[in-house]
Amino acid sequence: MLLQFIQGLYIVAGVLFILSLAGLSKQTTARTGNIAGMVGMVLALGATITHSLYLSAEDPENRQSVVVTLLLIVVVLAIGAAIGTPIARKVEMTQMPELIAAFHSFVGMAAVLVGFNSYIAPEGQAGAVHIVEVALGVLIGAYTFTGSVVAYLKLSAKMKSAPLVLPGRNMLNLGGFAAFVALMIWLIALPHDQIGFGVALVAVMAVIGFLLGWHMVAAIGGGDMPVVVSMLNSYSGWAAAAAGFMLGNSLLIITGSLVGSSGAILSYIMCRAMNRSFISVILGGFGAEGGTVASGDHDYGEHREVDVDTAADLLVNAKSVIITPGYGMAVAKAQYPVAELTSKLRAHGVQVRFGVHPVAGRLPGHMNVLLAEAKVPYDIVLEMDEINDDFDETDVVLVIGANDTVNPAAMEDPTSPIAGMPVLEVWKAKQVIVFKRSMATGYAGVQNPLFFRENTAMLFGDAKTQVEAINAALPVGVS
Ligand code: TAP
Repeated sequence: MLLQFIQGLYIVAGVLFILSLAGLSKQTTARTGNIAGMVGMVLALGATITHSLYLSAEDPENRQSVVVTLLLIVVVLAIGAAIGTPIARKVEMTQMPELIAAFHSFVGMAAVLVGFNSYIAPEGQAGAVHIVEVALGVLIGAYTFTGSVVAYLKLSAKMKSAPLVLPGRNMLNLGGFAAFVALMIWLIALPHDQIGFGVALVAVMAVIGFLLGWHMVAAIGGGDMPVVVSMLNSYSGWAAAAAGFMLGNSLLIITGSLVGSSGAILSYIMCRAMNRSFISVILGGFGAEGGTVASGDHDYGEHREVDVDTAADLLVNAKSVIITPGYGMAVAKAQYPVAELTSKLRAHGVQVRFGVHPVAGRLPGHMNVLLAEAKVPYDIVLEMDEINDDFDETDVVLVIGANDTVNPAAMEDPTSPIAGMPVLEVWKAKQVIVFKRSMATGYAGVQNPLFFRENTAMLFGDAKTQVEAINAALPVGVS
């Protein structure tokens, strides 16, 4: 009866996780999605703890085991909460990718440990299917662990972001996989009484996974790192699903598959928006060209500058304004004065909308989260595809801390490293004002011809300071 109830709770938690993903796909329902996920996780934890206590109580040889199990669970939960809570509280939005990378490494290590555990357990060596589960779980988990550690080190600038190029790197990776398959077949064929040797084989598989994860992610340039984080997210899901198969836990299988497939879909979408090949990114080592490149010595001519008063004047006299935010808005935390400027202009009768590029910022949905945080109404925040045709009827575009995502070279220069990447066609507007601190390049390291166009003017300085100055410079009737 209790076991059926636990299985029922697992199913409810699984459904809540699916609802959570569905909710998180839209800004208006994201909060509900989060709550569904949290409730699902509480149910899942509750059911899993009850299940382990039940199994311990069933063990006739060890009456102590319920208390011991409970104690272990409490200690583990306390350690997790003590580490996780302060980190989650103080992490900045811009540090999110590296935090996610660090957390994925735990999932990877957990799958490796579950792999060893489930091989050593009674009946753990029986059945080829189970051995394959163990082997794959250990390999994916080990790969995810070191891959995530490298991603964390690169994203937090504790390791050089340039790709590591070892001679014959593709052959090294292939050799690693071939050795893994050979070891797995050996493990399947191994007589059941040779557990010690079997554990040694599993350990060698784990070492291969650790080396492959380290090598393949180190071979990927900094430019592709966010895609790698989302790929590792996907792998951590498959690692959890593999652990679910080993432990016979249906909820872990459902959750792992959800994370695995949603991570893979997200990586694919990101690759498309950055014009990167999905396959070359996941295979690792083909991403060298995605790193920072020199801006070249092409002469683009002179750029123009605009001051705060002129910008304020242009804005109040405009009929329609589009704001295209980028990573610089996040760095400057300019979303609050931007929201204030938006509401003032709207109250003055100016149509203000936002154009958000799918990879503006450093993680998917980065801009949407910041704008929502600053209480910009959802209905004026549009995706690139929804707004791209409207630029030629727009009076003023404010490019706030964006660069690659508004670079016309992506469409006009086939030799550009970002050629083919879809971009916001801001240059079609009557006037473009670019907020940034210098003429420096953006993430892709390429110069932006937009800055030198006739209808573009640069407003140099920190985006937050400058937008605040514009707010202050608006005529009295508008403020
Ligand atoms: P970027 O091209 O990186 O440009 C950001 C600009 O903001 C920089 O040129 C910088 O110029 C400016 N900036 C920085 N701090 C500022 C401040 N305090 N005030 C004003 N300006 C500031 O950003 P983007 O247009 O958002 O493009 C995103 C890039 O990241 C793309 O190349 C994309 O492929 C890559 N990427 C994104 C993702 C996701 S999922 N979002 C994933 C992978 C890669 P100054 O230094 O001159 O101020």
